[in-house]
Amino acid sequence: MTWIEVTSLASRDVECGGIRCLVIRSLRATFSISSRQPVGIAVETSKLNQLNRDAFDAPVRKASVTSDIWSSPSARRPPWQGTDPVPAPACPLKRGTITRAPIGHHGSGTTERKDEPVLPAEYDMLRHVWFPVARVEDVAETGVFGANILGEQLVVYRVGAVSTVAGAYCPHRGMTLSLGQLTQDCLECPYHGWRFAPGTGACTAVPSLPDRPPPPRSDLRVYPSTEAYGHVWAALETPELDLPDLPEARDPDWRFAHGGPTDLTCGLRQITENFRDMSHFAFVHRVSMGPNVQQVVDPYRVEHGGTELRWALDVDLGGTALSGNSGLAGKQAFSFFVSVPMFATVRADFPGGGHSLVIQFATPISADGLRVRHFWSIGIDSAVPELHGADIAQMRQWEQEIFDEDFVILDKLRPIEAPLDSHSQAHTRSDKFSLEYRRAYLELVERYATRRPAA
Ligand code: FES
Ligand SMILES: [Fe+2]
Repeated sequence: MTWIEVTSLASRDVECGGIRCLVIRSLRATFSISSRQPVGIAVETSKLNQLNRDAFDAPVRKASVTSDIWSSPSARRPPWQGTDPVPAPACPLKRGTITRAPIGHHGSGTTERKDEPVLPAEYDMLRHVWFPVARVEDVAETGVFGANILGEQLVVYRVGAVSTVAGAYCPHRGMTLSLGQLTQDCLECPYHGWRFAPGTGACTAVPSLPDRPPPPRSDLRVYPSTEAYGHVWAALETPELDLPDLPEARDPDWRFAHGGPTDLTCGLRQITENFRDMSHFAFVHRVSMGPNVQQVVDPYRVEHGGTELRWALDVDLGGTALSGNSGLAGKQAFSFFVSVPMFATVRADFPGGGHSLVIQFATPISADGLRVRHFWSIGIDSAVPELHGADIAQMRQWEQEIFDEDFVILDKLRPIEAPLDSHSQAHTRSDKFSLEYRRAYLELVERYATRRPAA
């Protein structure tokens, strides 16, 4: 008998104890192809996204709602129960994936976390996103470079100012093309010397058969690609979100440098949240920023429009870093920007004049989304060296030290990806961005959930 599995993701709003929740469920149905009748339906996951912005710093109230969410009168019957043949999903806190605290203590600290791979609709979404695959300077230096998005191996080659991103393996005998070279403005396979054109990936030469056209199926599969912000970007499918526009990158008064890529065991959301997190500075960055970093995070308001989030915060980094350069490492005003799913910037306005901009982006490099390749850039305007005596090389070095400290933390966070179920972690006022970001991320995933075949 032949079977086919269909997955889908659906959501419902649930009013529960005054808290509005978005319940996400992922279903897997098994059908018999011959009869087209469902033979089994299973709830894969259920994720709760708390949307009530007033619930910050209300641990007692949150704990009560968390424990009773499926037994409170308003939530006992989920909206789809009775009209949908699928049984109501269990509360994720009762699925055995999280070790519960003793009765009477509704803690969320855990001894076990289950790492769940990306949801089917999330995977679809990620295939339509521009991701960085290489620094332009690396591809320009070698001409040919290996890359990866969601575990799909790619080759990047650059002829003149044109970068091409294609499937990693030669259509002849499967040689790894990132080990090839540029010959006569084409990518040359190192095994039998077949050559492939820039832009189209068309096979232009088969040295063993010089008088004949290349055989069928000899072209490379080429992916959408572009260059921006010092990096080559690619997407596995037609990208559906534009890369954000950064005015600083078009301003001739600014200078930029680009950090080297780093592979991490870490989810895309986890690394994006870390970059925006302010309350870890005083602890994770004691060495790079010094001992006097402000610990208290002032209240802030996150502006959420479409797939973009913005907010601003003033912070005092203590003034001891950069050899006591208080103009750059003391009080400053941060402006944060995130474009879901992972493009993030932080702009610093220095009270004595000058600005810096750090840009972070990351690419999932495993199909389950639990490995990422981290890329970043830093820019400064001309006032920074003129007024504060630090050039782009010094600022890049300082930022690299900061990121190196973050990488140690990111490697040890569990679960590996930041959970979409906000009830599985504790939150404070300073984490407001994380919840808004996860909500925006879910909204983006939902766009793709509606496109999947119904279970
Ligand atoms: S494997 Fe590439 S040319 Fe033969
Ligand atoms: Fe950090």
